[in-house]
Amino acid sequence: MATALVTGASRGLGAAFAQRLARDGLDLVLVARDTVGLQRVASEAARPGVSVEVLAADLADATDRAAVERRIADPHRPVDLLVNNASFECGVDFWTAAAAPLQTEIDVNVTAVMMLTHAALPGMIERGQGWVINVASFAGYLSASGSAHSATKAWMLAFTDTVEASLSGTGVRMIALVPGRLRTGKHRDLEPVGTSLMWLDPAAVVDACLSDLARGRTVCTPGLLYGAVVRTLETPRRTLRTLARLAGHRRGYMRQDARGHQLETSPGRERAQ
Ligand SMILES: NC(=O)c1ccc[n+]([C@@H]2O[C@H](COP(=O)([O-])OP(=O)(O)OC[C@H]3O[C@@H](n4cnc5c(N)ncnc54)[C@H](OP(=O)(O)O)[C@@H]3O)[C@@H](O)[C@H]2O)c1
Repeated sequence: MATALVTGASRGLGAAFAQRLARDGLDLVLVARDTVGLQRVASEAARPGVSVEVLAADLADATDRAAVERRIADPHRPVDLLVNNASFECGVDFWTAAAAPLQTEIDVNVTAVMMLTHAALPGMIERGQGWVINVASFAGYLSASGSAHSATKAWMLAFTDTVEASLSGTGVRMIALVPGRLRTGKHRDLEPVGTSLMWLDPAAVVDACLSDLARGRTVCTPGLLYGAVVRTLETPRRTLRTLARLAGHRRGYMRQDARGHQLETSPGRERAQ
């Protein structure tokens, strides 16, 4: 594995991903709007043998987004790991939010995740390997008050579930990372409230995610408290998924590569034919 592209890498969890991936020897492409923050993270991550590229882009802007998509899809500089981490939150009740920030929530948290993943997968599938990490949130399971943010994270969970299922047999893997509270972003300056079980360390969250990705899991929920809740909520779905697999149910229409070539037929399809 050679290159990872991390969105929202100018601070917080994205910066923690950059540090860990650079330590693992991956080349980096760091994406966000704040070039000063990106440069700071790039210089902290830099080490011999690791190249760090900074790509300033506003993921709510279609032109900037297209530039990131082109970088991801560049066959001469393949991206093997895409970390969809950037996120925007209005932070006010839905009906009091102005239209523009509401749209930004959708553009950054949904459209950018979908389009960047769409740019990444054809090359990954062609190379027979690749990884996509979608940074969702515990708020995708248990909506906090606010505007559309929790709904975008719920979308991310469903998106990961669907696309991961269709990737089977391609060598490409996808995982949803479901953090609880981190002392980053909007929580950066908050006084600690609640039990220490509620607060997660960004570096430990990244470690848990990469280790669950390596184990073939599709959801990673770091922390005892959040892990127990999500495991309980996920159990019926996991059971259904296993039963469907055992029964040989697969949807055949996804079994094509990006050029429309038929991928090898899954065992489930063979049984169904
Ligand atoms: N903090 C928590 O408690 C918590 C809990 C659960 C899940 N999460 C998730 O974890 C991820 C990282 O959160 P964090 O706490 O590290 O947040 P953060 O410190 O606020 O960082 C957010 C990152 O997203 C980037 N970003 C925001 N809008 C962007 C845009 N329009 N275009 C490009 N980049 C943009 C920011 O960079 P620029 O401002 O430089 O563009 C920044 O690098 C997010 O997906 C978040 O939803 C966080």
